[in-house]
Amino acid sequence: MVKIGALVSGGGTNLQAILDAIDKGGINAEVRAVVSSKEGAYALERAKAKGIENTVIRKKDFENAGDYEKALAKYFKDRDIDLIVLAGFMVILGPDFINEFENRIINIHPALIPSFCGEGYYGLHVHEAALKAGVKVTGATVHFVTAECDAGPIILQKAVDVMDDDTPETLQRRVMEQAEWVIYPEAVKLFAEGRLEITDGIVKRR
Ligand code: GAR
Repeated sequence: MVKIGALVSGGGTNLQAILDAIDKGGINAEVRAVVSSKEGAYALERAKAKGIENTVIRKKDFENAGDYEKALAKYFKDRDIDLIVLAGFMVILGPDFINEFENRIINIHPALIPSFCGEGYYGLHVHEAALKAGVKVTGATVHFVTAECDAGPIILQKAVDVMDDDTPETLQRRVMEQAEWVIYPEAVKLFAEGRLEITDGIVKRR
């Protein structure tokens, strides 16, 4: 059984999609702990509703990024976590965290990487950029997390059509419904089955 630790900052709909998929069965994993970067994140209520251990660890309460990341890593290591799932987590992680969980941290990004990604591209900003560029197709990407923001090995992607009358909000909703909530649980399942192999930065599904 793969023990998941989730990092969240907001509404937690991706966390919910993973929890629901696990409840349905067929995924050999459980969410053991949820850590939010912010107080009041609705994702924490979702954890509480399922009786999952949860807490808030804020970057601003630490002297520097290294100390913050060490505290986060310790929290998950103390709980014997196998896989870290970033589910709408709005803090960029550095080597002090990433090296502790090499190839065991995954993230969802609301665009087809390498489009509309990297620093500054998060949440609604991603969809604003897609609309500004006039793309007709966007989507979501699940990838492993490496030191370079949004540049780790890609696990799954799913495309979503852009409509002429889309606003950032309507596009965000469609990308979530049609792509994010589908491919994130799927990626967790593949990881839990040990089917993800990384060679030269490329993921192959066994
Ligand atoms: C999701 O759209 C997720 O892809 C995005 O934030 C939203 C969080 O929603 N993540 C990023 O932009 C990360 N760069 P949720 O809290 O309801 O899952």
